[in-house]
Amino acid sequence: MTRHIVTVPGDGIGPDVTREAIATLRKAAMAFGVEITTEEHLIGGASLDTFGVPIREDVLQAAAKADAVFLGAVGGPAWDAQPAALRPEMGLLALRKALGLYINLRPVAVIDELADASTLKREVIAGTDMLVVRELTGGLYFGEPKRIDAIEGGGERAIDTMVYTTAEIRRIAHAAFKAARLRRKRVTSVDKANILATSQLWRRVATDVAVDYPDVALDHMLVDNCAMQLVRQPTSFDVILTENMFGDILSDEAAMLTGSIGMLPSASLGDGPGLYEPVHGSAPDIAGRDIANPIAAIASAALLLRYSFGMEDAAAAVESAIRTVLSQGYRCADVRLGATSVIGTAEMGQRIRAAL
Ligand code: IPM
Ligand code: MG
Repeated sequence: MTRHIVTVPGDGIGPDVTREAIATLRKAAMAFGVEITTEEHLIGGASLDTFGVPIREDVLQAAAKADAVFLGAVGGPAWDAQPAALRPEMGLLALRKALGLYINLRPVAVIDELADASTLKREVIAGTDMLVVRELTGGLYFGEPKRIDAIEGGGERAIDTMVYTTAEIRRIAHAAFKAARLRRKRVTSVDKANILATSQLWRRVATDVAVDYPDVALDHMLVDNCAMQLVRQPTSFDVILTENMFGDILSDEAAMLTGSIGMLPSASLGDGPGLYEPVHGSAPDIAGRDIANPIAAIASAALLLRYSFGMEDAAAAVESAIRTVLSQGYRCADVRLGATSVIGTAEMGQRIRAAL
């Protein structure tokens, strides 16, 4: 069998880590008789530099036709002066919107070998194993109106709109409850219902959807409290269900529990092809120097095997290979604490493939 993947390596360390992720994906899939074909396109600053836009229409169309899409990272200071509509990040948002990727899954599990690399104490983070389920195509990111107007007589007025419909909340809530069923059966829905109308609706709809999942426990938490509980007692979470902006912020916070944001994978799912990307950004300061940690990208390839290809055994093999190499003491520079040997991007990829 053959499966076709569109890759959009993007900016900064995006190409460095994508290379290792795709090589690992290829090897793991091949072991189970699936051949991977790939087609590479530009996104973000790389696309801006070549085509003057953060993503081209034909790239969106190629992505929609693929079996899955793999992204490295977008953005960097080189494009900070771009007008809002032409920022590299808009390429990613356009891709999420075009593919209808309303579900963003960000698993956060502390690997025991790395527990001492976290800025938090081992006794606080040990055993942490949660899944952030972030709504990805609504809320403040996409709500209209969204613009900056000049005020007559001086100054400007900026507006973003936070908007959610029942249907949008309902479908992401279902995704969270279904995910919880495969885990410890607890959903914490995170909102700001003491202030925001969108959150009041969110809480009502989440409560309503919970009725279909009597085997899953639901509790609600205000987002400010959640930010605190994540560093106070992260082991208390199983599935966190939240809207786009809150999920963006909380998932970066949760990432640091694991020692480095260089460890966290993500899957974005809708009704068509899924998009897989490491949670970390483009880190332009270390781009192309063979020092970026490819583990988040490789773990994202494992999620691709699991969610887009239904190849659970291949996914589990990649995840176990990652743990094997870490347990041998190999680390990239971002988590050098506890390392017996600090290695580069390519060697980390090779070692993980050798352990497959
Ligand atoms: C993320 C990133 C993106 C987001 C940026 C790059 C647009 O921070 O995937 O978390 O804000 O969603
Ligand atoms: Mg983010």
